[in-house]
Amino acid sequence: MLVFAKIKSIQQKIKELPKGTSIGFVPTMGALHKGHLSLIERAKRENDIVVVSIFVNPTQFDKQEDLINYPKTIDSDLSLLKSVFCDIVFTPTAQEIYANSIVSTSFNFDGLEHQMEGKFRTGHFDGVGTIVKKLFEIVTPTKAYFGEKDFQQLQIIKKMVEKNHLHVKIIPCDIFREEDGLAMSSRNTRLTNEHRSAAPFIYKTLKEAKIKFGTENALDVIQWVENEFKKHPLFELEYFEIADEDTLLTIKNKNKQQKYRAFLAVFAGNIRLIDNISL
Ligand code: PAJ
Repeated sequence: MLVFAKIKSIQQKIKELPKGTSIGFVPTMGALHKGHLSLIERAKRENDIVVVSIFVNPTQFDKQEDLINYPKTIDSDLSLLKSVFCDIVFTPTAQEIYANSIVSTSFNFDGLEHQMEGKFRTGHFDGVGTIVKKLFEIVTPTKAYFGEKDFQQLQIIKKMVEKNHLHVKIIPCDIFREEDGLAMSSRNTRLTNEHRSAAPFIYKTLKEAKIKFGTENALDVIQWVENEFKKHPLFELEYFEIADEDTLLTIKNKNKQQKYRAFLAVFAGNIRLIDNISL
């Protein structure tokens, strides 16, 4: 496994690959867990080589405190990456990526950026678009893998690729969960024992909402979920939405031809968790 911190070095290596080598790319912010590894294993199966980037991108954090507290576990990340036979790791510094100007480009994602996470995390998706575009230019992947855990991010990246005519195929990957249903996240390790034991409630509620959506109207399902969280002493719901999968617009009237997803963000103490389910 090769590890590069400099743009020039990784680009040199990629230039030397035999013509036609397919590159699977998995961008990450490190603190790797089995959810990340499931993307990397899939990329490995579907490409000649796999490149993983580890970069805690400053421009996508709306709170400085979150950026500072973001877990950094580079040694264990590298051994996990070796264990899944990752070929190339890119670990640049902020200076290498942004030089002296740590700012985002402004994007127009046709409104996707104004829904859900966009309402609560100002500038977040401009930061994500900025870094992912830069990384695509450096790594020149054939396919890039994104988790449905961050479904809005995935749709935004697809939109960016489409609007900028980038030559990369975006591959959506299933949400990888703990055995008790909690979606894997680097934030889970920061939960208190009490919050961690209660956390399966989140996915359980999403699954029940999915069943209800089969027979009830959307507004009733929304109210039911909001009420379930109100009754729960440990979790505070930030939002629960049922939206069209492609436009992410909130559902108005159920239409059989459309695909919907339910999305939520919830606070467990001061840890913010997100999850979603296809309906
Ligand atoms: P990060 O949170 O490290 O996630 C990297 C990738 O792993 C994302 O595509 C994310 O959706 C996926 N992922 C995380 N947890 C997952 C789970 N439980 N199941 C499936 N996939 C999961 O997302 C980012 O980093 C950043 O925004 C990034 C795209 C790297 C840009 O900085």
